[in-house]
Amino acid sequence: MEPILRKTSRASLLQLLFFLLSITQLFNLTKSSTEIISRFQQYLRINTAQPYPNYSQSTQFIVSQAKTLGLESETIEFVKGKPVVLLKWPGKTPNLPSILLNSHTDVVPAEHHKWVHPPFQAHLDQDGNLFARGSQDMKCVGLQYLEAIRGLKESGFKPDRTVYLSFVPDEEIGGHDGAERFAESDKFQSMNVGIVLDEGLASPDENYRVFYAERCPWWLVIKATGAPGHGSKLYDNSAMENLLKSIESIRRFRAAQFDMVKAGLKAEGEVVSVNMVFLKAGTPSPTEGVEGHLSLGFVMNLQPSEAEAGFDIRVPPTTDPEYLEKRLAEEWAPSSRNMTFQLGQFKHKVPVHDKFGKPAVTATDNSNPWYSLLEEAVKKADGKVGKPEIFPASTDARYFRHRGLPAIGFSPMANTPILLHDHNEFLNQAEYLKGIKIYESIIKTYASFIGYSRDEESRAEL
Ligand SMILES: *[C@@H]1O[C@H](CO)[C@@H](O)[C@H](O)[C@H]1NC(C)=O
Ligand SMILES: *[C@@H]1O[C@H](CO)[C@@H](O)[C@H](O)[C@H]1NC(C)=O
Ligand SMILES: [Zn+2]
Repeated sequence: MEPILRKTSRASLLQLLFFLLSITQLFNLTKSSTEIISRFQQYLRINTAQPYPNYSQSTQFIVSQAKTLGLESETIEFVKGKPVVLLKWPGKTPNLPSILLNSHTDVVPAEHHKWVHPPFQAHLDQDGNLFARGSQDMKCVGLQYLEAIRGLKESGFKPDRTVYLSFVPDEEIGGHDGAERFAESDKFQSMNVGIVLDEGLASPDENYRVFYAERCPWWLVIKATGAPGHGSKLYDNSAMENLLKSIESIRRFRAAQFDMVKAGLKAEGEVVSVNMVFLKAGTPSPTEGVEGHLSLGFVMNLQPSEAEAGFDIRVPPTTDPEYLEKRLAEEWAPSSRNMTFQLGQFKHKVPVHDKFGKPAVTATDNSNPWYSLLEEAVKKADGKVGKPEIFPASTDARYFRHRGLPAIGFSPMANTPILLHDHNEFLNQAEYLKGIKIYESIIKTYASFIGYSRDEESRAEL
């Protein structure tokens, strides 16, 4: 009996030791998780909503984080008051093309009264959901990059390639004073970037979404002119009739594109979307408000001589732009029907091709090692990646793709409803923490990839 007893007590002592150890470990883990979430909350509480983002506060925060991580930092104002915060983790082999982790610091405005929790309070509810404007788009990603680097540094990892992080302003208003200026700068050129990671979208299922291209906005205004006439007269070629013929034709095209999505033949980002966003026609009533006159705002017995309509069109880079423009000129706004058209009256028409004349698309086949490396890295961290998609709207990634660089849109948020720009935007803290592990894996894989493809070499020579 005696030896057995001794054995048992030794065993239980060991058990107790293990128990204590795991408790400490668990405690440390929860402690560090709490700190990670608290840093995320700090960032979310900075009000960087357009049109008056507080960039001085976000810059201060990011630079202070960089300091605690021992990263080099530089704040560049290509446009005054619009800081690009650039952080650098130097690699052991600095002549290899670098990795750029991009995120924007601004967020869209929020209608405070429509939120369950105030949008800049970063309230954490009982289910672990963090409510804040920017929790999905995209302060999560910006800070996950930093937390991942913290984790990698703590583990003693040293990158071969240099890793840059850019925190850019104004993405939500087009990125012209932010990512666009940055991508065109000498500074960017000197960074010798080989791959860019930028934002994606949340995924309601278990697969993370990955984006290799995005649709280009074409804002179109068509204008019809025609002889004016009495409201009672039936005659051909009035401005209204001419405009309506165009609208009918555009609507048929829209329906055909939408049908392909409904039938599951194409994804949302793979079709041309066309939505009418304004109609402008009619002759304002000069007697408006004069007693004894009908107050409808418009002269009712007159067919006007001009009519206009505006459309938000989104064109996938896989579409032949010449084909679409021909259609526009021949069917949607034909001069034979006295129609004129303007593309991009407010914003320039975003070109479908990059500056080398190729579709602005990042390859997802084996011509692009960065794509398969990302897939692999996500898998290694227990994540799943869905079929690569075309982003339905615009992101800053287009400015990097325009330079012929590969750029991948990726925000690791699975099992999460898509709430960007919506009320009650939130992200679950467990999902956020998991995303950090995913980025640790990606950054580690990317930064230790030393295979130097011919493609990269030729780009580096540009
Ligand atoms: C931005 O944040 C800083 C730091 O909290 C504050 O001092 C400043 O007043 C804010 N600026 C605006 C315009 O709200
Ligand atoms: C175009 O405008 C001209 C000049 O106003 C007019 O004679 C012609 O009938 C119009 N054609 C159509 C198709 O509207
Ligand atoms: Zn965004």
